[in-house]
Amino acid sequence: MIDGVEVFAVVAAATNRVIGRNGGLPWRISSDLKHFKRLTMGCPIVMGRKTFASIGKPLPGRTNIVVTRDADFAADGVVVVGSLEAALAEGARMARETGAAGIALVGGGDVYAQALPVTDRIELTEVRLAPDPAGAVLFPELPAADWVEVARIRGERTDRDEADFDFVTLRRR
Ligand SMILES: NC(=O)c1ccc[n+]([C@@H]2O[C@H](COP(=O)([O-])OP(=O)(O)OC[C@H]3O[C@@H](n4cnc5c(N)ncnc54)[C@H](OP(=O)(O)O)[C@@H]3O)[C@@H](O)[C@H]2O)c1
Repeated sequence: MIDGVEVFAVVAAATNRVIGRNGGLPWRISSDLKHFKRLTMGCPIVMGRKTFASIGKPLPGRTNIVVTRDADFAADGVVVVGSLEAALAEGARMARETGAAGIALVGGGDVYAQALPVTDRIELTEVRLAPDPAGAVLFPELPAADWVEVARIRGERTDRDEADFDFVTLRRR
């Protein structure tokens, strides 16, 4: 929680925690992109500069907050901040102002890991793949003592999804 606002991470991770490769996603799962949109729409979203670069544009209908240590970084349509603390404070302010359900952390690995101590809930798409982890970006390990699975919905794979997947909700104990 940040200033009384829930912080939730939205991530798609392989069974071996791989979430990214070469600045992009290691798979194409169209159903998950729709799920991501449903979960984040209307919420302030916090992302690292590399994730923003991979998306290439602000995501509509959400305040996009990008963290970078580069004081010269600028991009149209996003709020740029110099620290994770500033991102969360801005996200909490926006969420309170707009009545949003929470602050959505949308990656990547660096941001998920740093924000884990203040993350209340994780919306995990568990992707049934195990890509080569060498050189890949990983989701942080989740100690079983800290996290409990509270929901699991089997994904309905379509011909636009490269793998099977489940939508899993985890909550901090
Ligand atoms: N599967 C998924 O659900 C998912 C979701 C999102 C992203 N991804 C993937 O994850 C990969 C990117 O992840 P990543 O870990 O390499 O990078 P990232 O977390 O997206 O961005 C890292 C950058 O954010 C900035 N940053 C991080 N912590 C900061 C702090 N405390 N203060 C200020 N700036 C900070 C720095 O930018 P500067 O270098 O500019 O200072 C840093 O280089 C991509 O492959 C992407 O496709 C996957």
